Amino acid sequence: MKVAVVGTGYVGLVTGVVLAELGHDVTCVDRDKKKVDMINSGISPIYEVGLEELLKRMLLEQRFRVITSIADATKACDVVFIAVGTPPGEDGTPDLTAVKIVAQEIARNIEKPTIVVNKSTVPVGTGDLVEQFMIDAGVPANMVDIVSSPEFLREGTAVADAQKPYRLVFGAKRREAAIRLVELYAAQECPMYITDLRSAELIKYASNCFLAMKISYINALSQICEQCGANIADVAKGMGADERIGKAFLNAGLGWGGSCLPKDTMGLVSVAKDFGYDFGLLKAVIDVNEDQTQRFVDRIESRIGGFSGKTIGVLGLAFKGNTDDIRDSKALVVIDRILKTGGNVRAYDPAAMENTKAEFPDITYCHNGYEVAERADCVVIVTEWREFASLDLVKLGQAMKNRVLFDGRRLIAAEFAQRAGFEYHTIGQQTVAKTVGSGD
Ligand code: UGA
Repeated sequence: MKVAVVGTGYVGLVTGVVLAELGHDVTCVDRDKKKVDMINSGISPIYEVGLEELLKRMLLEQRFRVITSIADATKACDVVFIAVGTPPGEDGTPDLTAVKIVAQEIARNIEKPTIVVNKSTVPVGTGDLVEQFMIDAGVPANMVDIVSSPEFLREGTAVADAQKPYRLVFGAKRREAAIRLVELYAAQECPMYITDLRSAELIKYASNCFLAMKISYINALSQICEQCGANIADVAKGMGADERIGKAFLNAGLGWGGSCLPKDTMGLVSVAKDFGYDFGLLKAVIDVNEDQTQRFVDRIESRIGGFSGKTIGVLGLAFKGNTDDIRDSKALVVIDRILKTGGNVRAYDPAAMENTKAEFPDITYCHNGYEVAERADCVVIVTEWREFASLDLVKLGQAMKNRVLFDGRRLIAAEFAQRAGFEYHTIGQQTVAKTVGSGD
């Protein structure tokens, strides 16, 4: 089929190249000419495993391109995807300005019956609104079908997730439109669910908020573990073995960040409010998440006797491993607190340092974990990059002023840290002291 995708962020670009890989003829649209040129020359503007290789292959096979004009991309298209940003406004409600502008522009250029698919995360009822925007912009109602097909890909594994999704959801007023999308994705062997527009829109929020709730639940339990002497990893394993609970998303840590869970939890609280429901459960999920990070920083501060004049090594800046994205990263919260109370930060991240420089131009950026540790009063692991799990702890410790390690992602086994002479602090488990004679 002939497909247009408006927006080349994580969702738009990955959707575009994966649909091209499925055999469709795809034109993506972005108003940023520099970005368009970059993508057309085979360079991905985002760091995502496997994306650049797939992009290059699709460009070479001439099944994929990016242009700046919605009009040119939309004409003679079978399906147009809207994948533009919906950033949260002051009260947490997603800002639909970009969706509206794009819908109107598509409406002005449709030449034949077209399916318009919304991929952006939007409040319940937006599908109906988009239809209205388009009708108001002059398109006859029988020329356009609106479908909501929320995206479930994760940053860091976006291409793999889009190539092998757990499920695809198509919400539409007319079943025929949803069936056209089943055809579009026919080559993908995964469950496909057809539903109405509003249910599809809610499935997206409900899924992300449930994931956030799982993490906040395990993080709240981690606080109890620290006090009562239980180990959160064993508790999670024991719980997760029950298929009704499942083992995924039970890794206790500094809390959830990123461009989606924080935005979507706030978004659903606000959507619920609009429909007259006070979603107290979800508000508590958000509170636990904020509290989790602050408590961890409190522990660091209290252990080293205040940050003033101290040097803290920070391992990881991205909101999670395998991405350069720092939006709502816990690293920003940790660094901000250290700097505001007079501490110095030495930081390293395999992918996110350039992005962080805009936020914190004056901290010391290092080439690796060992450089971060140099003369540090303590080292803190903030992001779950796998390379941090295999650091040579003896070498790390030798560079430090005090061998104190705070592991905010539970990457290091306590015995290994202790054997390397560390005092080891983590989440959901009691602190392991230095072995006698290990010194500093
Ligand atoms: C999330 C969802 O997982 C995707 O399904 C969804 O499509 C996406 O949002 C979206 O709406 O676009 P993402 O934000 O990429 O994906 O990241 P996650 O893998 O969900 O991780 C979110 C945060 O939770 C990270 O900060 C991570 O460190 C944290 N996390 C995750 C934990 O603390 N513990 C866990 O067990 C899992």
